[in-house]
Amino acid sequence: TLVEAVAIDGPASSGKSTLAREVAKRLGYAFVDTGSLYRAVALALDRAGAGESPEDDPRLVVALAACSVALDPTPSGVRVFLSGEEVTPLLREERLGRIASRVSAFPAVRQALFGLQRSLAAAGRIVMDGRDIGTVILPEARLKIFLVADPEVRAKRRLLDLERSGQKASLETVLSDILQRDERDRSRKIAPLVPAPDALVLDTSHMTISEAVDWIVDRYR
Ligand code: C5P
Repeated sequence: TLVEAVAIDGPASSGKSTLAREVAKRLGYAFVDTGSLYRAVALALDRAGAGESPEDDPRLVVALAACSVALDPTPSGVRVFLSGEEVTPLLREERLGRIASRVSAFPAVRQALFGLQRSLAAAGRIVMDGRDIGTVILPEARLKIFLVADPEVRAKRRLLDLERSGQKASLETVLSDILQRDERDRSRKIAPLVPAPDALVLDTSHMTISEAVDWIVDRYR
């Protein structure tokens, strides 16, 4: 049976979270950015001194045990906690995205976060974004969207985001970072980044946010 939910997947900086948040607002649904869970695990590992290329080691178990999430009733996303400390505002850093994309290939991480994500999604009335929502986490979602956009366009969007949050980077660095993360996410063995067979592919390269939101909400209704 179908779940009243929208699953939005796609590569780095394809606009998933921005669109998912707006779609959730329009539908009056909850919004869950699942990347923030992987980022929280990355932060826990980083704090444990695991470095930028953490190994699949015992510190991982400790980091996973520390993670918990709470659904915010407003469509502003999930609140993420490490041992009770809210870390939501700390998760957007580039460094954590890089670490997250490495640890997300570890089976123990995906397994632990699977249960967490299922428990958030089971009741429906939710918009979830990530890499494997339509394929693994919520294959019963009534609508599945797979976002794509030219890498150059994504890099420019990401650069704008970074500048807005006071972080500095060059277009070159951001682009190569995006391409590396895409490659890692697509080629990992478990839950690789691929569209579900019944996902609708939406190319947002030449669309505004509101055009893309309208498109998704129209398809859902
Ligand atoms: O979307 P975001 O950039 O926050 O995700 C960070 C990393 O977490 C991604 O590069 C990806 O490796 C991983 N991720 C994942 N599955 C998800 C969401 C994120 O593997 N559902």
